[in-house]
Amino acid sequence: MMSKQRSSFFMHIPPLLQLLLLPPILLLFMALMVSALDNYTRADFPADFVFGAGTSAYQVEGAAFEDGRAPNIWDTFVRANKDNYNGATGDIACDEYHKYKEDVQHMVDTGLEAYRFSISWSRLIPSGSGPVNPKGLEYYNNLIDELIMHGIQPHVTLYHMDTPQALEDEYEGWLSRNMVKDFTAYADVCFKEFGDRVLHWTTINEANSLAIGGYDNALSPPGRCSLPFGLVCPKGNSSTEPYIAAHNLLLAHSSVVKLYNKKYKATQHGFVGLNIYAPWFLPYTNTTEDLIATQRAIEFYIGWFLHPLVFGDYPDIIKKNAGTRIPVLTPHESKLVKGSFDFIGLNHYATFYIKDDTSSLKMEIRDINADMGGSIMYEPGDSSQDQDNGSSGLYEVLEYLKKVYANPPTYIHENGQRTVRDGTLNDTERVKYMHAYIGTLLDALKNGVSNTKGYFFWSFLDGFEVLGGYEYAFGLLYVDLNDKQLTRYPKLSAHWYSNFLQGRSIRTNEITEVVNGTFGSSKSQASQ
Ligand SMILES: *[C@@H]1O[C@H](CO)[C@@H](O)[C@H](O)[C@H]1NC(C)=O
Ligand SMILES: *[C@@H]1O[C@H](CO)[C@@H](O)[C@H](O)[C@H]1NC(C)=O
Ligand SMILES: *[C@@H]1O[C@H](CO)[C@@H](O)[C@H](O)[C@H]1NC(C)=O
Ligand SMILES: *[C@@H]1O[C@H](CO)[C@@H](O)[C@H](O)[C@H]1NC(C)=O
Ligand SMILES: *[C@@H]1O[C@H](CO)[C@@H](O)[C@H](O)[C@H]1NC(C)=O
Repeated sequence: MMSKQRSSFFMHIPPLLQLLLLPPILLLFMALMVSALDNYTRADFPADFVFGAGTSAYQVEGAAFEDGRAPNIWDTFVRANKDNYNGATGDIACDEYHKYKEDVQHMVDTGLEAYRFSISWSRLIPSGSGPVNPKGLEYYNNLIDELIMHGIQPHVTLYHMDTPQALEDEYEGWLSRNMVKDFTAYADVCFKEFGDRVLHWTTINEANSLAIGGYDNALSPPGRCSLPFGLVCPKGNSSTEPYIAAHNLLLAHSSVVKLYNKKYKATQHGFVGLNIYAPWFLPYTNTTEDLIATQRAIEFYIGWFLHPLVFGDYPDIIKKNAGTRIPVLTPHESKLVKGSFDFIGLNHYATFYIKDDTSSLKMEIRDINADMGGSIMYEPGDSSQDQDNGSSGLYEVLEYLKKVYANPPTYIHENGQRTVRDGTLNDTERVKYMHAYIGTLLDALKNGVSNTKGYFFWSFLDGFEVLGGYEYAFGLLYVDLNDKQLTRYPKLSAHWYSNFLQGRSIRTNEITEVVNGTFGSSKSQASQ
């Protein structure tokens, strides 16, 4: 049916125009075919549930040395670890700093209801503390206004791996308690300047993987570690620093929540939460050892932050295995941290398998991974990191949060699929991935096992990725880096999401009827 329609459509069009029209038309037809998977629509979700997509400042903004933005630890990290990135940097990235109006238009075309982005601390307050940069203020005001003008909710992350370099140099960033004061003062500026229009604030993105990536295995800024863990680092202590950084992250987060509640909540009526990396874990085999190791992994990844936030202390197993290397939450700190959130942000990509490895607990020098006493495995027989192992892990994470942490309000802040950035727009695998995960989320909502308020796809654009820079892509839109204009091209996944969000999803049994409808309304998209 597809090829028949295409040939009759093409008969009346000159050959050259046919060639130009081919890619968008193909995408439309592919979108229709893939939509045939759907057995749910946007209308099955609550009306106040929000769907969006996300990015972070360093990964898309560019303009790294423009208009008063000062360096942060990302700028330093990519230069110190050129091999990780083939020498690439986020200096220009997607240039969203200059192209934000165009990007908001793409969001409108995709039907996004919300955009999750982060504020670059060193763009707004270049030295980390002290005077505000008027150009930085202007940029975020413009971006927020542009979003609101188009009916797109801004969901703002205050910190996404980018400590101002000045604070890293002065007192080693998250290793110091000084961060609590400076981060709170920075958040105060953001609430004061943007809080009249921004209702959803996330203090810190992936607090747990930041502590591990930044201070244990050195895969992300500030890239600290010590032997025998991680890469070879000039500075660091993988045994202690992840726990210290995590402790200061918790204190800084709760201090910001306290500030918001005291000074802004009554007038701005917004919500403040913390975000964690939340994979799901299954036992590698069904031996008792692997089952217990899997429970440990869940406590080390999810409980590390959620246990203090909900109960005011770290999980017993972490305290036991880390011993004196994990700071004690004093009664005063515990009181501050406990209950300090309106929602929990979850970045969920995949399910992994855990193999017991308690021999690591006998090692004299241990990092957090050794304290966990288990190895993270991908699918048995498949060593690919891109293996997502199905969407049921998302259901299980949400069910776990309900059971153990009293069903907190959550946002799925990131969910997405990594592919090699080869310029293909035909990302059918990504469409299947989105379809499966959004469907699983709907099941979780319908069965009452989750209190999820929104879903954000990672990512809106093919940006500068934490692992691998521009080698890999997660975007709904491809950004052509060989083109000076950095032109954006919607992938099949963007078309699918757009159809879904605009209520044009197709139920298998209604396909003929809806194919006509979708094709009609998609024509205008193709001609834009
Ligand atoms: C859609 O189909 C899948 C697979 O058959 C099923 O698990 C899911 O519950 C269905 N969702 C809805 C909303 O019917
Ligand atoms: C890390 O810190 C601990 C506790 O202070 C210390 O015993 C250990 O020697 C340090 N390791 C390194 C590599 O500096
Ligand atoms: C472990 O048992 C569960 C439940 O019986 C089963 O679904 C799963 O496939 C088993 N896992 C392995 C690795 O054998
Ligand atoms: C798109 O990708 C799918 C699966 O990878 C493949 O079956 C299909 O033929 C591709 N379509 C085009 C037009 O390349
Ligand atoms: C859809 O298109 C087919 C083929 O062009 C046509 O026969 C059919 O009547 C159309 N259906 C609707 C509901 O418009």
